[in-house]
Amino acid sequence: MIKKICCIGAGYVGGPTMAVIAQKCPNIQVTVVDLNEKRIAAWNDVNVENIPIYEPGLSEIVAESRGRNLFFSTDVDKAIAEADMIFISVNTPTKTYGSGKGLAADLKHIELCARQIARVATTNKIVVEKSTLPVRTAEAIKSILHNTGNGVEFQILSNPEFLAEGTAVADLLNPDRVLIGGDQDAKGQEAVQALVDIYANWVPKEKILTTNVWSSELSKLVANAFLAQRVSSINAISELCEKTGANVNEVSKAIGMDSRIGPKFLKASVGFGGSCFQKDILNLVYIAQSYGLQEVADYWEQVIIMNNHQKRRFSKNIVTTLYNTVADKKIAFLGWAFKKDTNDTRESAAIYVADDLLNEQAKIAVYDPKVGQDQVYADMNYLESRSPEANKKGITVMLDPYEACKDAHAIAIMTEWDEFITYDWKKIYQNMNKPAFVFDGRNILDKNELEKIGFKYQAIGS
Ligand code: UDX
Ligand code: UDX
Repeated sequence: MIKKICCIGAGYVGGPTMAVIAQKCPNIQVTVVDLNEKRIAAWNDVNVENIPIYEPGLSEIVAESRGRNLFFSTDVDKAIAEADMIFISVNTPTKTYGSGKGLAADLKHIELCARQIARVATTNKIVVEKSTLPVRTAEAIKSILHNTGNGVEFQILSNPEFLAEGTAVADLLNPDRVLIGGDQDAKGQEAVQALVDIYANWVPKEKILTTNVWSSELSKLVANAFLAQRVSSINAISELCEKTGANVNEVSKAIGMDSRIGPKFLKASVGFGGSCFQKDILNLVYIAQSYGLQEVADYWEQVIIMNNHQKRRFSKNIVTTLYNTVADKKIAFLGWAFKKDTNDTRESAAIYVADDLLNEQAKIAVYDPKVGQDQVYADMNYLESRSPEANKKGITVMLDPYEACKDAHAIAIMTEWDEFITYDWKKIYQNMNKPAFVFDGRNILDKNELEKIGFKYQAIGS
């Protein structure tokens, strides 16, 4: 029986996952630890609305369990020492140096966690990989734990997270499936069962799938690759639609009604973003390459190539449509997050479109209901395309969408936030430079309505 859980990494995955486990398992003490003191302080903020991650329904769940059996702390050693089960939920970004640069996952945080667990543990532990990892990472963790530990026994499980940001709580409460990979021997199976028992508190047994470790690790990469591939596929068709007069929304609906294809992940957009899709596909490409499977690697790489093309094509079209120059023209961005209902901006298409437009010397005004100016500048500075001063000069971040759009030549819809649909578009139009353009990177606005007001409206794929 698991009595104490520790989770290393209080991010978009660790935070919501542990909050739900704590809510559903009131008899288990769950401690989420992180090196980042500011982040932990925010999770502990007396005003639960100030927790560092925005997800619909999350603050309520945290409020229910925090201080009862859910704790946030920076004392990593203590939490590890006390726990029977340790989730590793730290970030695994794409490597920016050395072999595998730009493709492979950087496992230095994972390795540090493994070494820390090995150093601190004095009782047997089940270590659960929650972070998305290359296949066979469990093997590396196992080797570190067994060779540097204090002689205690470790079982390593793979339990990939399938939650999507913006719907994390709903996905956790009602998952399509929970996947648990473990060793096939008796002790491995015992550890698998311990984790199954936790999820069984709220997930129907038939949805809890157990496999060997490598199948589980690979399934996570493959699931994300398949989802991203659908988006790139429909985005490829969107360009063809624009040339031929077909409408991608209609094509998408028509093919999605085929039950073999299904309607989800067929929405054409300015390009997918988020911390996972690109990283996981690059990882898959790297794995395929390292086994000499060049065709397999090329096949999946094309999903990324298409996505980069889609983002670039969007910014190019803005420039061409605005009479081949956007220099000193104000362009308003509605949305900066990589999708609605999250404050996460990692790999958001908005960043790359802004970068292109700044190269053309446009002036960008950003409004996002959940993203503030520090984050926008941090994202731009991270690209290192120009100096932080130049980013600051080129981009202003507004707290009011109507102000952001005032005197703009064009509006680019970058995120599909619901509130954009409800705006007073007549008022926005009146205060813009004419002709006033809307480039709808998410196909959420009503073309007829906007054109009636006077806007020149362009959606993706029509
Ligand atoms: C990350 C990965 O992006 C994803 O692929 C994986 O499946 C889970 O982990 P996420 O939770 O969204 O997802 O990352 P992030 O919000 O960056 O959170 C990771 C946290 O780990 C950060 O708060 C970071 O401070 C913390 N961390 C990192 C540690 O506590 N210790 C470390 O050694 C490294
Ligand atoms: C994804 C996976 O869905 C999730 O299972 C995994 O655990 C982590 O990676 P996430 O990145 O949070 O989740 O969001 P997701 O809903 O998958 O969206 C990814 C990107 O694709 C977003 O930028 C979204 O706007 C875009 N997208 C999605 C489209 O452009 N069109 C679609 O039809 C669907």
